[in-house]
Amino acid sequence: MVPVPAMLDGVNKASGGAMTTTANDVDQTGDSGDDPFFFAVKLVFGLVLGLVCAPLIIPFLVRGLTTMWAPTKRWYWITYPWWWAVVSAGVALVALLLAAEVWQVVEWARAGGYTTLTQAASPVAEAWATVWPWLLLNVAAGVLLVPAVWSLQRRKVAERVRKRTIPDVVRQERIESAQKQATDLSSARKIGVKVDAVTKTITGSATNGITAPHPVGNGQYALGVINRETIRGMAQRIADQSRVPDWVTTDNRYLILPEKAGSCRLLLFSEAGTGKTVLLMSIIAAAVRSGQKVIFIDAKGVPRDARELARLVAQFGGTAAISGSGEDAQTRWNLFHGSAADVTAKLMRLQPPPDGSNQYYLEEVEAVLEVLQTKAPLRSRKDLLERANNLDEWVTDRDDYRMLREVVDSRTKKTAVERAVASVTKTLRRFDDWTDPEGWTFDDPGADVVICPLIPVDATQAALGDLLLLELRAYLKRRLEREDYSPALVIVDEFPQLVTPGNDPADLATRLFETMRSAGAGLILAGQSVEGLSVDAPMRARALNSGAAVMFGRQKSPEDLCALAGTELRLEASGAATGEELRSGRAQHTYRIKPQDVREASGGQFWIVQGGHHATFRALPNASAEATATPTGRAEPPEPAALPVPATTPETPTENDDITPEEQTA
Ligand SMILES: Nc1ncnc2c1ncn2[C@@H]1O[C@H](COP(=O)(O)OP(=O)(O)O)[C@@H](O)[C@H]1O
Ligand SMILES: [Mg+2]
Repeated sequence: MVPVPAMLDGVNKASGGAMTTTANDVDQTGDSGDDPFFFAVKLVFGLVLGLVCAPLIIPFLVRGLTTMWAPTKRWYWITYPWWWAVVSAGVALVALLLAAEVWQVVEWARAGGYTTLTQAASPVAEAWATVWPWLLLNVAAGVLLVPAVWSLQRRKVAERVRKRTIPDVVRQERIESAQKQATDLSSARKIGVKVDAVTKTITGSATNGITAPHPVGNGQYALGVINRETIRGMAQRIADQSRVPDWVTTDNRYLILPEKAGSCRLLLFSEAGTGKTVLLMSIIAAAVRSGQKVIFIDAKGVPRDARELARLVAQFGGTAAISGSGEDAQTRWNLFHGSAADVTAKLMRLQPPPDGSNQYYLEEVEAVLEVLQTKAPLRSRKDLLERANNLDEWVTDRDDYRMLREVVDSRTKKTAVERAVASVTKTLRRFDDWTDPEGWTFDDPGADVVICPLIPVDATQAALGDLLLLELRAYLKRRLEREDYSPALVIVDEFPQLVTPGNDPADLATRLFETMRSAGAGLILAGQSVEGLSVDAPMRARALNSGAAVMFGRQKSPEDLCALAGTELRLEASGAATGEELRSGRAQHTYRIKPQDVREASGGQFWIVQGGHHATFRALPNASAEATATPTGRAEPPEPAALPVPATTPETPTENDDITPEEQTA
């Protein structure tokens, strides 16, 4: 690693020095037979040394010029799978060149080169004339060593950053941030997603990228790739591995859907436009692949999203039915399902909330509904009217009968049953379009995936969403009662929007998750921020700690979520006033997941926290995330659908087993 000027110096000195030495030697000792030869050897040795070291000039120049600023740039930390090949090829070529040169010198020496050289008039000039073109070539060949030196330097910086021995505190932070961004950009590149590094938005995906759900063997389907540090030192490689349970493959490379439906309990938060819906679609497709029935309630209710999801499900060999209203609905919800108590609960939910003055009246409605269902639960609005008109057939108990026929309104002469039924049917009429006594239920969805888009701005749809959540709990209770542990997954996107005013979404979420665990069914609730879940901090904390995994992407105040991953001891630095030097420090607990990283996360980048561990991952796009990202695998016609799927369903390829991500060597 002798710098070139010094080398040349050395050569010059060797020659100059040798010349004077020769003169001195001749003068002083007269031993002239041996010295010219010795001088020639020294000269040749010096030149060969110069040749060997010359290729290092450019790499070290580059290193010297870049180490100050490059490590704070994200591109510095991005590694490419072909990088090691470039490094090895460069080193090999330079080694070959040097070997060839040394070989030439050896050959030259064998042919009596030294003797010839000593006899020359000016050995130095002669040797130099032969050597300089080679020297030039070797200096130029140094370009080939730049990747190797670059890599070594990068490792060294990474190690220092890891040990936090970078004296400049600001620089340390900048490098860490650059490293994390590079990690995500590397993952994005691996899966063929284009992310704008500056605006952090997804700009598209490559046609040959991988899409979710991506089969990774063992019947598992990947939803995302785990972001791993691009430069990992030996210490990190041999350190004890920690891994998020259920959601990550054993090799810690992919995020997957948990194999057991009961383990699939998840809270997902991220800002609009960061890829929540796409991720949920991937989850649904993966669930279909592993034979789970899915109910997807989407409180954003974009019809296009629903159609895209149906198409995606069909592509993976499942049947999908979009629940809606009106004539062209593929399926409608069966509101009248479950026991008499379940039906009563739903119908009572539609009555105005109790406010003290209406207490008597509500009790009357409830009593009428109970009596009318003593023989069998109600099955439709018509059924209710029919029973009210045929009391003799439906009511056997004399007291009940008397209660129903009692005149409760002296002005209109209305009986109790007339007043209650009129009130119930009035609230039910607006659901006529949305419900169907033959429609889908949680117990019998009728398709692999039922998609239920709702727009809560509309009062009817808001009430419908509220009823669905009520029904969900009744369904879980029924599952527990009949000891049904069949795999099922319920997903609610924009969950907080569905919860009616006066109820706390966090409270509902907590109770749902607790029941889900024992019912062996999966539940995923998604929202934009954890604040949206509840205004009450202890309630929020309860929901976050309910045992469900917590996944989150970019958002503005992620502190609550970051706290879930815990803290680590870090040196809190106190620096010189100029901010350039670390003077003293004390160990402090800081978040393992930095809130600022979450605020600045790019689209499609998520964190998952579960079981005391956390991981960062990049969600795979799915075929509907980007029209151009259609997988190129073998074509397989979609299975005949039990329920109609949209006519637009293309006979697109099913799966892309043959595409694997580029090897993740760093
Ligand atoms: N993992 C992903 N890979 C590629 N593109 C994605 C990914 N996630 C989202 N996108 C793109 O970003 C857009 C917005 O995503 P979306 O899931 O609708 O966001 P959100 O539901 O959070 O509002 C999608 O239409 C898609 O084009
Ligand atoms: Mg969305």
